[in-house]
Amino acid sequence: MSQTSQSPAPAWRDDLEHEYAALRARIEHLVPCLEWPLHLPWIEAINRLKRERGAVIMAHSYQSPEIFHGVADVTGDSLALAQAAADCEADLIVLCGVHFMAESAKILAPHKTVLIPDLDAGCSLASSITGADVHALRLEHPGVPVVSYVNTSAEVKAESHICCTSANAVQVVESLGMDKVIFLPDRFLGAHVATQTEVELILWDGRCEVHEKFTAGEARHARERYDAKLVAHPECPPEVLAEADFVGSTSAMGRWLAKERPARVALITECSMADNLRAQFPATEFIKPCNLCPHMQRITLQNIYACLRDLRHEIQVPEGIAERARRALMHMLAVGRAERV
Ligand code: 13P
Ligand code: SF4
Repeated sequence: MSQTSQSPAPAWRDDLEHEYAALRARIEHLVPCLEWPLHLPWIEAINRLKRERGAVIMAHSYQSPEIFHGVADVTGDSLALAQAAADCEADLIVLCGVHFMAESAKILAPHKTVLIPDLDAGCSLASSITGADVHALRLEHPGVPVVSYVNTSAEVKAESHICCTSANAVQVVESLGMDKVIFLPDRFLGAHVATQTEVELILWDGRCEVHEKFTAGEARHARERYDAKLVAHPECPPEVLAEADFVGSTSAMGRWLAKERPARVALITECSMADNLRAQFPATEFIKPCNLCPHMQRITLQNIYACLRDLRHEIQVPEGIAERARRALMHMLAVGRAERV
């Protein structure tokens, strides 16, 4: 039996309702009312422990609402979390997301302790390619730079010239000033980037197991049945993206909603993302389809509590790999900074 399941649930206290009234108002349409009394003592216990430890909790936009709204200090897409880790002042970071995100945080903040609540929170894209695969690609295409999506292991980043996220992929590809680049591992993101640039992309056949499941038929159904605008993540298959009114990263989706304020929208991405945006845009009706990422769902209030209590599971990256992976990540962050100047 794991230590998490051994830890008794913190006791309910009546004053918690009053202390967390504002949070409840914000998320009550996202968290079933029967679940609220179960979550609240954990939320309070985590926030208390977090203060005692001087920790910062970072949560990806695909984390469930009780984590995203209840305990996170920093929220955002994978680019925002990487930037936050690089700039973070706290010595202890708890990364609520998948393994490659915690690894990126450790690489960018090597002197800090970075914990992930569940070491098995993986990603089908990250596990689709190894450092040896990238090395072989480089030998096959000498002189062609490698752009790797951050959804990769440290070992793959170490073999890459530069990283990108879905928020900056086109910008990163074009920043290299080359006619051809190797773009990996997401075939669908790569195919989407290829429609936005003259640069020729050599692709790998990785896929996100969550986004590859969406179909064009489902997307059309959402539009026709509900008169909804369609907003899709670029990890979806091309025929789904062809149906969309807007294609963008998780952060770009939020900006698009803030600008367009549609009456109804179908967010063709991970379900928790739709939940978290629903809290931000209460006047917009959110329609399915959405799919849950089983890896993101491994993170729970219970294992966040155990992670802070026992200071587990610490992310370690061998320094030789970390140093080369850091170069690729820093190169990406520098492209973002140059664009903002
Ligand atoms: P973002 O880069 O948009 O945060 O997406 C990461 C991810 O894992 C999407 O499935
Ligand atoms: Fe990986 Fe897809 Fe899950 Fe994102 S949604 S973490 S790409 S498996």
